[in-house]
Amino acid sequence: MKTGVCYYPEHWPEERWALDAKHMREMGLQVIRIGEFAWSRLESFEGTLNFDWLERAIDTLHAEGLSVVLGTPTATPPRWMLDKHPDMLAVDTQGRIRDFGSRRHYCFSHAPYLEECKRIVTLLAERFGQHPAIIAWQTDNEYGCHETSISYSQHALAAFQTWCEDQYGSITTLNEAWGNVFWSMEYDNFHQIGLPTGTVTESNPSHQLAYWRFSSTQIQRFNKAQVDIIRRLSPGTDVLHNFMGNFVEFDHHEVSKDLDIATWDNYPLGFLTRDNTDPLDQERFARTGHPDGSAFHHDLYRGCCDGRWWVMEQQPGPVNWAPYNPSPVNGMVRLWGWEAFAHGAEVMSYFRWRQAPFAQEQTHAGLLLCDASEDIAATEVARLNAELQTLNAFAQANSLPSEQPSASINDAKTVQSDIAIVFSYAGVAIQDIQPPGGEQFSALGFCQKLYSACRQWGANVDIVSPTASLTGYKLIILCTSTEDTPELLAVLRAAHESSDCVVALFPGTASRSREYRMPNMLAPGALQTLIDLRVTRSESLPPHEMLTAKSADNLTTHCGQWRECIQSNIKPHAQFDDGWGFHYQQDRIHYINAIPDATGLLELFGRLFHESGIRAKNLGPYLRTQRVGNWRLAFNFGKEPVNLADNLGLSFDFTANTPVIIGSSILHQGEVAVWAVR
Ligand code: GAL
Repeated sequence: MKTGVCYYPEHWPEERWALDAKHMREMGLQVIRIGEFAWSRLESFEGTLNFDWLERAIDTLHAEGLSVVLGTPTATPPRWMLDKHPDMLAVDTQGRIRDFGSRRHYCFSHAPYLEECKRIVTLLAERFGQHPAIIAWQTDNEYGCHETSISYSQHALAAFQTWCEDQYGSITTLNEAWGNVFWSMEYDNFHQIGLPTGTVTESNPSHQLAYWRFSSTQIQRFNKAQVDIIRRLSPGTDVLHNFMGNFVEFDHHEVSKDLDIATWDNYPLGFLTRDNTDPLDQERFARTGHPDGSAFHHDLYRGCCDGRWWVMEQQPGPVNWAPYNPSPVNGMVRLWGWEAFAHGAEVMSYFRWRQAPFAQEQTHAGLLLCDASEDIAATEVARLNAELQTLNAFAQANSLPSEQPSASINDAKTVQSDIAIVFSYAGVAIQDIQPPGGEQFSALGFCQKLYSACRQWGANVDIVSPTASLTGYKLIILCTSTEDTPELLAVLRAAHESSDCVVALFPGTASRSREYRMPNMLAPGALQTLIDLRVTRSESLPPHEMLTAKSADNLTTHCGQWRECIQSNIKPHAQFDDGWGFHYQQDRIHYINAIPDATGLLELFGRLFHESGIRAKNLGPYLRTQRVGNWRLAFNFGKEPVNLADNLGLSFDFTANTPVIIGSSILHQGEVAVWAVR
């Protein structure tokens, strides 16, 4: 793994650039991302181009042996662009225009803006496509950030009407597919189709889902237009995009099909304070981030481009944008680096080199302070880089492969996992449109809870797309596969027939068609050929309503939020007081028809691991471990020190005599240990 940093030469006097480049090299950084917001300096007026400064900046970095990722500047169209295209701005759900003065103020469906983007990308790729320093191009920046995936502009509406016509062919087909007869919502022609917003009460979920799919396709189209240009003018150079955390507004698997590397922006403390609603987590992980938060995304994005992934932006200290922005505990920045290594990252890049004393992000830490002296993270990054070299040296001395190879997940299997969680962005969208577990239920959040339970048992996990092959896994988990599709049945059947894998299906699996209709045969649709049951009722429960399922041998599981009533000849493992069954199993396929609490999930996974033959040890809430290539790593997120010999023990081949290469066998908070395994 290499380390890198995001750098904004246009923010600093040119005399600084060489000093910065030298300093970056001395810190051990190798990959520098630049340019992604610089349009106003590259083209200050329409057609007035100035690329010379950028070339000098790239040359300066190159002279220190640094590699460059060049961003296309399309997330920040300059002010003159609006004079030229006043109608290019995105529109929000309330019909408000998203005005100039920050960033991402464009609508993906505005065709003339897309042409402007193609023009600037072409000019940049013509000029820099062959530059020896450039190892990758980043398209735009964080598609969808600040709620910009979906725009309700007139351009979007027109494009949506055309999209509907392409999809459905005739308006009768669309009316039929969406069930528009329901409230006399039938259309006579495609021009009458409106936006799924501003309606008196909720709009038709089929309409909403179609609009989500359309908006996702618009992003894919926008991205591909840039990728095609770069591939033509800079052949052989990797193209990537920086995705976000806790973000499901478009189908990242589809957008990734046009990229070489999926990268993502990791702000563990920002995500915790902004997105986690559990007060206990808020209290214990405020300065470390959730122990499974970064890992979940590392595994999710590893599944997007066939195993190739980076962290493009890593939090180095307090950020500026969450409700509260604490400092990480000492050592955390180093830990997050090792964690990315453990999940197979090729590059860990920090945001940003030097804190900006102006504009929106003044209190956002960097590796350097505003005055160019080193901030705390700089020391931790330098240490990480030195340790990565120690590990390489150890590998060479002991003839282990020195780096985890960067090839595909399937070929190299650098991160070997027995467990696959299937992740469907469309499936999440379906659940989010009409939340089946009530207003506090989040499909993404529940998936993260299942992931956490697996991690607490010490397992490596792959998070894969709905069309990925599932063959070879010992345990397959489905919770966001809400869509009942022939492809889902095919991949599951192939995995089931070719091995002894255990499959766990959670509520909502295969419960809607592509058009947001319930399957004629009821849920779980076509999967009923794998497990003979059907869902006859789905209920959502208020927070105080916890239900207890009891098994014949008196094991209890507390469930809440969402429960399904099952009709089947299969005898359930347990029963609720009101007679509803809980947890059905046919052969090695399990259907878990309610949402267990954290303890229940952990116990459930303990049993599933046992049945799948996956080794496991309950590591508790704070200790985590991950195997990558020939290495195993352990991380402590908790305040109390842990002794690895006691806490991992023989289940993970760790004894008091295990030679630890990096760190030690007693881990304090924020510490990491790395050792070799064969
Ligand atoms: C990211 C974004 C960066 C910067 C950063 C601050 O979302 O890509 O440009 O704004 O957040 O944390």
